[in-house]
Amino acid sequence: MEFKEVAEKRRSVRSFEQKEIPKEDIEEIIEIGHTAPSAGNRQARDFILISDQKEKEKLVENAYGQSFIAEAPWVIIACAHQKRSAERYGERGRDLYSIQDASAAVENILLAVVDKGYASVWIGAFEEEKVKVQLDIPEGVRPVAILPIGYPDETPTAPKKMDADELTHHGEW
Ligand SMILES: Cc1cc2nc3c(=O)[nH]c(=O)nc-3n(C[C@H](O)[C@H](O)[C@H](O)COP(=O)(O)O)c2cc1C
Repeated sequence: MEFKEVAEKRRSVRSFEQKEIPKEDIEEIIEIGHTAPSAGNRQARDFILISDQKEKEKLVENAYGQSFIAEAPWVIIACAHQKRSAERYGERGRDLYSIQDASAAVENILLAVVDKGYASVWIGAFEEEKVKVQLDIPEGVRPVAILPIGYPDETPTAPKKMDADELTHHGEW
C-alpha cells in the first residue's frame, strides 16, 4: 500500500474477529514501531507483548471495561522509559522526551498494523498504577498506550476532523 493510503485507511477499530495472527507479524510490527525517532537516540520506550487471555481480561478491568481489548489475539503495551531519557536529559527527558519516544513508536505501530491488513486502537484511558502492578512494570517506566491488535470486525467511517488549514498557523500563531 502507498503510504498515504495506509495513513488514510487507519481507523480506531474496537471490534475484532476471533482469528489468530502469527507472533512473527506482531514482532515485525514492533520492529517497525521501533524505527521511529527518539530524543538523542535514547530509544526511551519498551513494549510488553500479551496474548494470555486472563491477562487481557485483567487489562479490560484496568481500562474501565473496554471489553474489546480481550477480543484481540495480541495486545501491545507501549511504555515510556522515563529513566533512560532522564539519565541524559533530566526532567525534560523524564516528562516529555520519553513520552514522545513511546508515542512516535505507537503511531508507527498503528500504521504498520494497517499495512499488514490488521487493525488496532490507541487506548489511553486506563488505571496506570493498576496496569503497572499487573504487568510488573518497574519504577521509572510508564505505560502510555494499550494497543489491541487483530483482524477488524467493523469498518468505522472516518470521524469528522478539522481542516488542517484551521490548525496551521503560517509564520506565527
Ligand atoms: C492519546 C489517545 C488516547 C486514546 N484513548 C482511547 C481509549 O481509551 N479508548 C478508545 O476507544 N479510543 C481511544 N483513542 C482513540 C481515539 O478515540 C480516536 O483516535 C479518535 O476518536 C479519532 O478516530 P480515528 O483514530 O479513527 O481517526 C485514543 C487516542 C489517542 C491518540
